[in-house]
Amino acid sequence: MEQSAYFCGMKTLDKKEIVVSGSRPTGLIHLGNYLGAINNYVKMQDDFQSYFFIADYHSLTTHYDARNLPQLTNEVLATYLACGLDPEKCTIYIQSHIPQIPELYLLFNMIAYKGELEKIPTFKDKVRSQEQSGKSISAGLLTYPVLMAVDIIIHRAVKVPVGKDQESHIEMARTLANRFNNLFGEKLFPEPYGFNFGEELLKIPSLDGTGKMSKSAENPNSAIYMMDTDAQIRKKIMKAKTDLGPTEPNQQRPEEINNLFDLLRLVSTPDTLAHFDEQYNNCTIRYGDLKKQLAEDMVNTVAPIRNRIEDIMRDTTYLHRVITEGGEKARASAAATLNEAKRMIGMRYV
Ligand code: ADP
Ligand code: TRP
Repeated sequence: MEQSAYFCGMKTLDKKEIVVSGSRPTGLIHLGNYLGAINNYVKMQDDFQSYFFIADYHSLTTHYDARNLPQLTNEVLATYLACGLDPEKCTIYIQSHIPQIPELYLLFNMIAYKGELEKIPTFKDKVRSQEQSGKSISAGLLTYPVLMAVDIIIHRAVKVPVGKDQESHIEMARTLANRFNNLFGEKLFPEPYGFNFGEELLKIPSLDGTGKMSKSAENPNSAIYMMDTDAQIRKKIMKAKTDLGPTEPNQQRPEEINNLFDLLRLVSTPDTLAHFDEQYNNCTIRYGDLKKQLAEDMVNTVAPIRNRIEDIMRDTTYLHRVITEGGEKARASAAATLNEAKRMIGMRYV
């Protein structure tokens, strides 16, 4: 296990590296969330001091109507547990149960600049889509990355398991952590980095060949949800976009075909991947066969998790216990950091 030493207040601590990540309760968890992030949370909980949460404040930046929030939050929580997060090994909580987060967020909003936040690509994309549908841009949307930075640094995390779409946010978290340390002359916050076991962060493609698989996609057939039935999964895979097939050996693959191969790589065996690779390269491939195999491998990945989600959702006493105990642990860690940050700023009153 890796050990890290960092300077904390006046003491140097040797401890397990700290991991933080979260997902927004804006819809059903899909295969992109699972393969891009949650699967890594599960693998990391054994070796790191880990905090995994449900980012309900973040969901309000785009989905202000909170009527569905309790149901969606429970679904994300049950999905975490069904995927294998173990409350004995990691701390699981709801973001809004930790009052130290909005307090540190307020302090960080004083050192984040409007100009740098406006340049973040995810903000620009959201502005474009909100304006198209005639919506105003809230201050909360602009400062989304400040809140995310605080989620991470409130536990002084160094590793953040996320998908590729979050890269610019993690970079902002590093910038803000360093700026705070430099302004106040102590290295309270370590630099956080996106993490995927030494590999590039993942971007799981949507099934219709347009961008990443996403909770808020307009076309529900473009994503495989962890709650989809076997029949729905098969239907979606069989409908995924393809082309007319290769006409020359070793031909370059168009994006939608590359996407299918990417999905095969993630859920099928290396032999299966090699088999269809070879068939593509010698122009004998039949996409129907590839899709049938992919659909079966996808069903085998999703079905056991879906069945566990359904069981866990029924056990509301257990869900309540997990977030109550997790909240307590997360508040203790957050309070320690917030106190240090306020001391460094000079907010020490009699
Ligand atoms: P969404 O973008 O679908 O609304 P979230 O924003 O809640 O999902 O993301 C939760 C986690 O899942 C984040 O770490 C994010 O990077 C990851 N993630 C989301 N979509 C994908 C994808 N298509 N490929 C890889 N990772 C993804
Ligand atoms: N912004 C992330 C997303 O949309 C969710 C998130 C909020 C997060 N705070 C975080 C992820 C802190 C990792 C660490 O996916």
